[in-house]
Amino acid sequence: MFGPAPAIETLGAAYRALAEVVGAAGAREMLARRAGAAWADIIARPDTPLSPDIQAQLARDLERLRAGAPPGRVLGVRGFWGAEFALSPDTLEPRPDTETLVGAALAGPAPARILDLGTGTGCIALSLLQEWPSAWALATDIAPGALATARANAAALGLASRIAFACGHWGACVGSHSFALIVSNPPYIPSREIDTLAPEVRHQDPLRALDGGPDGLDAYRAIVVDIPRLLAPGGRALLEIGYGQRAAVEAMARDMGPVTVHQDLARRERVIEIHHGG
Ligand SMILES: C[S@@+](CC[C@H](N)C(=O)[O-])C[C@H]1O[C@@H](n2cnc3c(N)ncnc32)[C@H](O)[C@@H]1O
Repeated sequence: MFGPAPAIETLGAAYRALAEVVGAAGAREMLARRAGAAWADIIARPDTPLSPDIQAQLARDLERLRAGAPPGRVLGVRGFWGAEFALSPDTLEPRPDTETLVGAALAGPAPARILDLGTGTGCIALSLLQEWPSAWALATDIAPGALATARANAAALGLASRIAFACGHWGACVGSHSFALIVSNPPYIPSREIDTLAPEVRHQDPLRALDGGPDGLDAYRAIVVDIPRLLAPGGRALLEIGYGQRAAVEAMARDMGPVTVHQDLARRERVIEIHHGG
């Protein structure tokens, strides 16, 4: 798909090589982070030589990008809701679609306590804590490595004192606490579809962050049964859903109270909001 690896001795050459693989915006971001170069530097001084270290790093980056790795995964960091989140092999790379869930949560009243099930990088819980300065969160995940990354992200954002972490299977590790807001973006891709995903998704994100079981709904079954126990009366639970999963997840939540559905920017049904006890 791409030609032989090009020379990348200068800013301009590196920009052209990167842009061919990841487009103009991706190339600008890569050069900003790897070479500290602003767009004005690339335009005004394209002949600026790059140090051997930066050239070597960019050559490694280009090899991964050409193999299909997304820029965020190569850089080990991803922007979400205006902040930066470090990634690790145990975390999903946060997706822009998940910002729909954060926006839907913020449209409601500020909760004192938030529960984030399957936190990954911590992007949902930490974004909400940044927006609600009086809130506190418990973030869970089954992957200890993901929790370590989320903890580091909390510290980097100055939020460590307002978040706690628990490792285990969905609500089972939460104990008897109750929360005014529950949020979750669980794995929801049916197992048989995993092999059909683009290589950059299949090989870069951990399988446990993607695989929702035979019909994609295993995690919802496990989470929804615990909502009456964990959600405070009058509270809200927001669950991200995959394509075509609205009716099934809505049916699971039917007896708990009214349900609202939020669409993402592509007008796909993306988030189910359960209002506990009406
Ligand atoms: C789709 S990722 C979402 C990560 C993050 N919340 C986000 O939106 O980017 C799902 C997360 O659920 C976690 N997970 C998978 N199975 C789990 C289980 N049985 N109990 C708790 N967490 C689980 C994964 O490790 C992963 O971090």
